[in-house]
Amino acid sequence: MSGLAIPQTSAAAELRNAGGKSPQEVREMFARVARRYDFLNHLLSLGLDIRWRKVAAREISGLKKETVADLCTGTGDLALALKRSAPEARVIALDFTPEMVAYGPKKAARAKLSGLVFGIGDTLNLPLKDGSCAAASVAFGIRNVGDLDRGLREMARVVRPGGKVLVLEFTKPQGHFFGPLYMFYLKNVLPLVASCIAWVAGDAYRYLPKSIQAFAGPEEMSERMKAAGLVEIRAVPLTFGTVHLYVGVKAKPLTNSTSTF
Ligand SMILES: C[S@@+](CC[C@H](N)C(=O)[O-])C[C@H]1O[C@@H](n2cnc3c(N)ncnc32)[C@H](O)[C@@H]1O
Repeated sequence: MSGLAIPQTSAAAELRNAGGKSPQEVREMFARVARRYDFLNHLLSLGLDIRWRKVAAREISGLKKETVADLCTGTGDLALALKRSAPEARVIALDFTPEMVAYGPKKAARAKLSGLVFGIGDTLNLPLKDGSCAAASVAFGIRNVGDLDRGLREMARVVRPGGKVLVLEFTKPQGHFFGPLYMFYLKNVLPLVASCIAWVAGDAYRYLPKSIQAFAGPEEMSERMKAAGLVEIRAVPLTFGTVHLYVGVKAKPLTNSTSTF
């Protein structure tokens, strides 16, 4: 793994995420599925995950030589998409599961992308200075973090005034027909297919619907982003509302003239 290697972890053992898992359990779960993570992701989302990340990455297109932090980066797919969207930007990609983040540098090298740094970092205790980034992003990660509000505050902290916080996350779709049908797929089909491909993935894909059901919907997420000090919040539904892209801008002090992009 290249670049940062900062062994920061959430010390608080009492932390639990929306799916009821502790940080240690989350780390162990992703360590077990790391090898199959990309394959299962693309297969079970029918390739839509690639498009969702592209939509998120478009939010920073046009960014010049500034830093973007991709948190809970996993195997680095959003980090790569961000780099493609803003080739001049420096992307710092952090995750607290070494087995996941280990794939990032290999994928960046294969894609011939430079200017990305992968490392170990806890989203609840980021090894980044206040206001050091033009944007901070997280794709399908914040639901797994042990304290949503603290995670959002950390993201807002490292972003400079006028910069963006981007959150891509699953949502429970509304609607009397599509909602239950989708939840049936998530609860029954997904874990079955996943465990047929890799037995160790069964647990992760049983946890997925549980955590999606318990996680904040668009209105609540928007409120919580606002509480974290963000303004101009947008919740953009993707693929029938099964996923939302949340965008918030770090509020500028009245005297500050730094730009939004
Ligand atoms: C579902 S994966 C998402 C990976 C990637 N962002 C993507 O789009 O595929 C969730 C990731 O969040 C990481 N994670 C969960 N809690 C974390 C925390 N507190 N700090 C850093 N990483 C965390 C896990 O290790 C895992 O790699």
